[in-house]
Amino acid sequence: MRIKKAVFPVAGLGTRFIPATKAMAKEMLPVVDKPLIQYAVEEAFQAGIEQIVFVTGRGKKALEDHFDRSYEIEHALEAKKKHDLLKQIRELVPPTGTIIYTRQHEPLGLGHAIWCARDIVGDEPFAVLLADDLIQTDRPVLSEMIQKFDRLRASMAAVMEVPKDQTDKYGILDATAVEKDIYRINDMVEKPSPDQAPSNLAIIGRYILMPKIFALLGKKQTGAGNEIQLTDAMKTLLQEQPIFGYKFHGNRFDCGDKVGFQMANLAFALERPDMKDRLLAFIKEVQAEEQG
Ligand code: G1P
Repeated sequence: MRIKKAVFPVAGLGTRFIPATKAMAKEMLPVVDKPLIQYAVEEAFQAGIEQIVFVTGRGKKALEDHFDRSYEIEHALEAKKKHDLLKQIRELVPPTGTIIYTRQHEPLGLGHAIWCARDIVGDEPFAVLLADDLIQTDRPVLSEMIQKFDRLRASMAAVMEVPKDQTDKYGILDATAVEKDIYRINDMVEKPSPDQAPSNLAIIGRYILMPKIFALLGKKQTGAGNEIQLTDAMKTLLQEQPIFGYKFHGNRFDCGDKVGFQMANLAFALERPDMKDRLLAFIKEVQAEEQG
């Protein structure tokens, strides 16, 4: 029961980032100089994932090209003797056959996107990563979760506490702490209003799922926002199997939101020694101007 496959739903319309996402998947938006999707793919490979399944939609071409070789660029970099960059762009191309693309024909929700990968994943537990949730940490979340999975042998979602007035943006848990950083989930609900929310413990976009989830998603029941929700299928799975929440360590940025996306850019840029000082000086300048 090793986790070998990771599913990346990348078919979202990215309407909040129009016009940037008119012709390009929102997962291709760069944080500093790397597209969001690359952070998530690197996290998956670091965690020992061997096969990546992209469930794509519009803007698939840029994504496919990103993880493919570009002889034109390689040639130009070679000619300019930019060996570091050349190494970088060659390294980001996984071996042939490790990425599989499938297409979600209609935007019917996250649960439906995952279901589209059923035949590729087959009858084994697998990971799901939502590239929008960018997590700055020195302990990559999926690696930590796979380690926990090796012991707990059950489905799992990454969780964090969110402000009580934001429960309607997340899958929210009713859960009991069972050991350090681990909760046993009793119930879950997708995007409840604050007065309906069982807690402020929210699901963040990293999951390990048992393959039984596909049969439940296949029932195609719609939930919040009239979409087929992963949270609803997990709630049904709870009747048969335990599901755990893993409270990760790190700063999570909601890159599906414009402000969250800008914060992510700033936080990741400030980690770069070659960018930090100029940025800090600029922030101080802007702050001084704001304060008049
Ligand atoms: C999805 C899930 C939700 C989860 C969230 C994390 O929602 O449906 O349960 O809390 O991701 O980012 P979305 O952000 O796609 O609306």
